[in-house]
Amino acid sequence: MATAPIVTIDGPSGSGKGTVSRAVARFASWHRLDSGALYRLVAIAGQDRGLAPDDVKRHAQAALTMEVSFLEEAQEDERVLLEGRDVTAELRSESAGAGASRVAAWPEVRQALLERQQSFARPPGLVADGRDMGTVVFPQAELKIFLTASPEERALRRYKQLKDKGSGVSLAALSREIAERDARDSTRAVAPLKAAPDAHVIDSTGLAIEEVVGRVLALGRSRSLWP
Ligand code: C5P
Repeated sequence: MATAPIVTIDGPSGSGKGTVSRAVARFASWHRLDSGALYRLVAIAGQDRGLAPDDVKRHAQAALTMEVSFLEEAQEDERVLLEGRDVTAELRSESAGAGASRVAAWPEVRQALLERQQSFARPPGLVADGRDMGTVVFPQAELKIFLTASPEERALRRYKQLKDKGSGVSLAALSREIAERDARDSTRAVAPLKAAPDAHVIDSTGLAIEEVVGRVLALGRSRSLWP
């Protein structure tokens, strides 16, 4: 089990987890785990291997065996390699997100990714973001955050993010997809999206990202996780 201090940041799509956890990891000079990226990578690896979309067993096998490198894990321009191939752009696409949400509902895939996720806990510390970091993967975490925001604001943030990257996706389509993904993530039988009982819930609707980061940093400081 981990010997490094751990901060978990869970929440739905578009809640700002990625940006906040990156900023906190950078501030503390800690490692970062973007667990959503691992589920996205399983979906991509499944496609690369020509697996049937409902082949649970082989997707779980892919989750165990796929070779992944995260380069510059706390940086904005982080790159991700799958079997040596740069999949950074593909990883952020809505289709990878939808594929991830599908394979993430399978207990076999979640189990296969468990140890891989836990192995990210290394000194000096880890900031892990996802859906079940505080509830399942790192229940012993020193600080747990659950980030929320209204569905409208989350769709808008995702829209801006994708537009900046040159994607032509529509806001209406995105809102629909986010609602579907929320429903699937919160109602699945294993590790559904929910706040750990000991998590600090932060509603980021109407808050600037710096404010959210400031609150998380203050909570960490009050626990002597950083100066
Ligand atoms: O956070 P991100 O949008 O990259 O996650 C993609 C999908 O992966 C989510 O919709 C969710 O279904 C799944 N996921 C998960 N558990 C995590 C992280 C992501 O089930 N810890």
